[in-house]
Amino acid sequence: MIKKKGTVYRLETPATTLVLKADTAQILYYGKKLVSADWCEALRSSPCRLFSEYGQGDFNEQSVLLVNADGGFSTNFVYSKSKILAEKPVLENLPSSYGESKTLELKYVDATKVALYLYYTVFEDTDAIAVSAKIVNGAKKEIHIKKLASVQAELTGRFEFITFNGAWARERRKNARAVCGGTFVNESRAGASSHAHNPFVMAKGEKGVFGFHLLYSGNHKESMTEYDGVTRVIAGINDFMFDWTLGAGEEFCAPEAAMCYAETEDALSRQMHAFAAEHVVRGKWKKRERPVLVNSWEGAYFDADSVVEMAKVSKDLGAELFVLDDGWFGRRNDDTSSLGDWSDNVEKLGCTLAELAERVRGCGLKFGIWIEPEMISEESELFRSRPAYAMRVPGRTPVRLRNQLALNMADEKVQNFVVRTVSDVISRCGASYVKWDYNRMLTDCFGKGVAAGEYFHRYMLGVYKVISKVVKRFPFVLFEGCAGGGARFDLGMMSYFPQIWTSDNTDARDRLQIQDGSSYGYPQSVMGAHVSASPNHQSGDSHPLETRFNVACGGLLGYELDVRKLSEKDKKTVAAQISFYKEHRKLLQFGNFYRLGDSFGGDYGGFISVSPDRGAAIAVIAAEKRTNVPPPRVAFKGLNPAYVYEVTARRQENYENNLSFTAGGDVLMCGELFFPDFYDDASARENSGCMYTRMFLIKKQKNL
Ligand code: DGJ
Repeated sequence: MIKKKGTVYRLETPATTLVLKADTAQILYYGKKLVSADWCEALRSSPCRLFSEYGQGDFNEQSVLLVNADGGFSTNFVYSKSKILAEKPVLENLPSSYGESKTLELKYVDATKVALYLYYTVFEDTDAIAVSAKIVNGAKKEIHIKKLASVQAELTGRFEFITFNGAWARERRKNARAVCGGTFVNESRAGASSHAHNPFVMAKGEKGVFGFHLLYSGNHKESMTEYDGVTRVIAGINDFMFDWTLGAGEEFCAPEAAMCYAETEDALSRQMHAFAAEHVVRGKWKKRERPVLVNSWEGAYFDADSVVEMAKVSKDLGAELFVLDDGWFGRRNDDTSSLGDWSDNVEKLGCTLAELAERVRGCGLKFGIWIEPEMISEESELFRSRPAYAMRVPGRTPVRLRNQLALNMADEKVQNFVVRTVSDVISRCGASYVKWDYNRMLTDCFGKGVAAGEYFHRYMLGVYKVISKVVKRFPFVLFEGCAGGGARFDLGMMSYFPQIWTSDNTDARDRLQIQDGSSYGYPQSVMGAHVSASPNHQSGDSHPLETRFNVACGGLLGYELDVRKLSEKDKKTVAAQISFYKEHRKLLQFGNFYRLGDSFGGDYGGFISVSPDRGAAIAVIAAEKRTNVPPPRVAFKGLNPAYVYEVTARRQENYENNLSFTAGGDVLMCGELFFPDFYDDASARENSGCMYTRMFLIKKQKNL
């Protein structure tokens, strides 16, 4: 809801209030919901501003920076007008949130006739406010945009800057540092949102936690500056190498960001989950239960010839979808060749891709396919026939990462080629699922006719154009984004792909942490999570099959191992796991998700997914055994303290004890739950990772 008094606007979400003064571009208040109706008088002035520019005596990190037609770079954006729009403006060719909502539009104009527009969209059903910015060049000559942030929020007080950082196979580890007396930055210059620095950040202070979440998959930058007791948060496209020429009469839209406030990190996460699930993920798969899949990668790697045998076993185990990963095309026997040659490797497959897909379907499974459309191998027909499609700087030796080059997605011809080839692959095998991979970061950024300062963003615009066309063309196909695991795990991609491969690291202990870090900004319904072989191929550690399953239940369950090699006992266990998952997947995939304990070195970690009416929940507790230390004391979360619940441990093949008891919701959440046999895992010797896990089903029995 948006209320107006003069030039003061009050934006209301269920739990938060944002009060803006349009004419002075001030944030009068942002935080916990204000209920009183008299809201104008007391909140008359504030040091907090909606945007910051160079040239008016503000020497900190700015949200808008232009080079004017006359070569000067000072601006003075002065209030022009404001209005409430009944519908959210469309962001052409950019990812965006959607849904019923009102939008506040604010307009500021500089003496050069360049206008700055700010948009605030309030979603009544969640606490997120979508924010974006636009520059319209009303001058007679071209200008240069050196920076246009999507959102600026200034907050009074001091804050911790919380970011989610990592690397390949250890994405999104939570980091916090105090912001004091300067600017602190979280950014990607990799051409993708990156494994290293996710575009979701939080500002945590005495009054609560503020979340800022960019809907963008390319170079991004989030900064927090503390100056004179005010903390400025800015998020948007990275200004690294950014220089956008805007001709007379043209406009430039910054990508959207979502911001929200909550009293606790947990509450903020659930706001972000609701926002992503309700207003970002779209299409036929939005709220649909996701299939249990078996993916060929860690089971077969490039030996895609054993697929039908694997599919047969997968069907017996209860899987619903078989995904043929890398290795099925061109002459792809390792990662040195064939990207771009999306023709069937009949010799390896023993038949065409279409026939293979038919055979998999003949086993009673849906068929899914892997593709990496934005890339090119120098050892490929495509490179031989269209070398100009590759992204390279003329006269320089390109940097090869994973032995491959990227395509120049800023070029329309390349974009059309990618749409054509991906569409052809999907059509010819009748895929129900597509894993869209992207396995290198960008280094040789260059496109003929594309200004250097525009390259990164034009690359992303090209990608979005292609993806949106393909997704529209195949509305029933389930797309899973992937980028060497989680290098494009962001709301930009999630605007097109309803799920994303969270990480290439499938080690249960590492995965628990990666999923835990990811869960701050993203719901479990977007996180691909697979059970893989033991010892794990990335870490070398072993974890019991039940532990691997318990952890994978924190996301969208799949198996990624050679199912033919499972022992008969393990096959029975997997079949029981899949049947359990199918019975409870609505709750696991779409329940309200809470992190339990502290998966990063606390006494225990884990998660609980609770039904919206709090009548049912499934919890996973994980703890590392230490010599002569008793099992942890545990607290569940999200239950109703006024209900009595029946708690049953899922029948795990590695525990003899089939625990079951009843207790009030308040007792279950008080932090004193104790399971004496927690470390009595019968398969402990297989457990070099030393992590023990148990899963609990929690059902309401009655009111207290
Ligand atoms: C990286 C992905 O993250 C893996 O899951 C797998 O698809 C490989 N690429 C295939 O090359």
